[in-house]
Amino acid sequence: MKIAVAKGDGIGPEIMDAVLRIFGAANLPLEFVPVDMGKYIYDQGFSTGMTPEAKATIESLGILFKGPMETPKGKGVKSINVTARKVWNTYANKRVFRSLNGVETVFSKAGIPIDITIVRENIEDTYGGIEHMLTHDVALCRRFITRPGSLQVHRYAFEMARKKNARKITCGHKANIMKITDGLFLETFYEVAKDYPDLVANDVIVDDLAMKLVAKPGEFDVVVLPNLQGDIISDLCAGLVGGLGFAPSANIGDNISIFEAVHGTAPDIAGQQKANPTALLMSGIMMLRHIGLTESAAKIENAMLTTLEEGAHTADFGKPGTPALNTQQYADAIIANLGKKPSITTPSTGAADHITFTAPRPLSENPIKESPAQKGEIVGADFFVESNQQAVKVAEAFNRTISGAFELQLISNRGTQVWPTGSVFTECMNQYRVRVISKNDAPVSQQAMLQEVMNVAAELKICSVEMLMTYDGKKAFSLAQGQ
Ligand code: NAI
Repeated sequence: MKIAVAKGDGIGPEIMDAVLRIFGAANLPLEFVPVDMGKYIYDQGFSTGMTPEAKATIESLGILFKGPMETPKGKGVKSINVTARKVWNTYANKRVFRSLNGVETVFSKAGIPIDITIVRENIEDTYGGIEHMLTHDVALCRRFITRPGSLQVHRYAFEMARKKNARKITCGHKANIMKITDGLFLETFYEVAKDYPDLVANDVIVDDLAMKLVAKPGEFDVVVLPNLQGDIISDLCAGLVGGLGFAPSANIGDNISIFEAVHGTAPDIAGQQKANPTALLMSGIMMLRHIGLTESAAKIENAMLTTLEEGAHTADFGKPGTPALNTQQYADAIIANLGKKPSITTPSTGAADHITFTAPRPLSENPIKESPAQKGEIVGADFFVESNQQAVKVAEAFNRTISGAFELQLISNRGTQVWPTGSVFTECMNQYRVRVISKNDAPVSQQAMLQEVMNVAAELKICSVEMLMTYDGKKAFSLAQGQ
């Protein structure tokens, strides 16, 4: 089988060489096909950070094993790491955090074992990077959570949890504040949970989750989260097990999957052979399991666990006073232990893992995923307008310009209601959200609503407009704080 390999930038080539040497010594039946991706490719003028040949190779092989990559700073260039995950729909980011004997942490010293798997939704949320300045003072970021996207990642998380004999699966979210977006993520979690009665399913608000992960990490087994919250919580979990040097990740899609360490290019130690290759090695072990090489995965994992138990370490961890190995010496120590089993840690077995690789099946067109249709009707619009006037003046302008079929319902500033009632203590910026509703909530045409936009535009600067919808008669928009 062929695997596409991109060594990456910074410490990437050093740690990838170390891992590929370990794989070579384990006699894996794999051919590693180098592909060109990363900063040096941006520098050659490829705006996507990868050559067309690299894209074609990855899309035909279906597996990319990659080192960390640097995104050039400055506007107009998107992160190659995020782009690769999104373009190839690697919708589930699985990150495993386990205590390792030989890696001292405050938890290992206290005898508290950690074994937590985070599944982070990998496509949606704020990671579209769709941002605008609404006024010169007010920035807005759009956050997408979709029903099919949420169902997809939850289904993956439940399947994975069942196959790894997890006892419990927890959804982290902030649905108490983001009732529609995180509300949808949470609702779909419990929808999928119905098909897995053997697993205990619960949910925790993300701030409480952060505290509980530190105070009582044993309470958690598999945790599924939206993209941004998953990103933050997984770095917290990396801290629980000894840092980024021990945080592997798999970006799983139905066609293409990407395996990489959680950490970045570590420019401060690049080129010095100081980097710890363990996280990349662990990501590679996940990849071997994904493609069915479970025996080889167990053999390499056991060699790694044995080496850690022996006290071998790179400069970023290990007992103070004991000499650190460089990246390649550390890899050599693991190679020397191939065939051995750890004595303290329970050895890994070649048991079949939960992920089954299937070769990419390209479709002639991009698939549109949609749940059963619901009747959508427009009942009004939220106008985002720029104004440095008091809210009452903005209300007067709207009342002068909107037609008799509509009425002004409320005005908010930064989400807090300031008209018709509010507090004089609410501080306002130069941008209001003005809610215009059709009389008696009667459905209106898109043309009629846009005509109101034209009417209001005669007096006020409109930054953006959001239609207020009902689906199957249910309101599909949030209320203002204080409403
Ligand atoms: P970083 O993860 O590269 O470094 C943070 C700290 O951890 C540094 O002190 C570094 O020396 C240390 N560190 C990281 N990995 C290590 C390892 N394997 N062994 C020993 N020490 C290690 O994060 P930073 O500095 O925020 O980002 C640097 C660059 O990496 C940026 O250009 C960023 O965009 C990129 N990046 C790429 C990622 C990817 O390719 N998936 C992920 C995160 C960042």
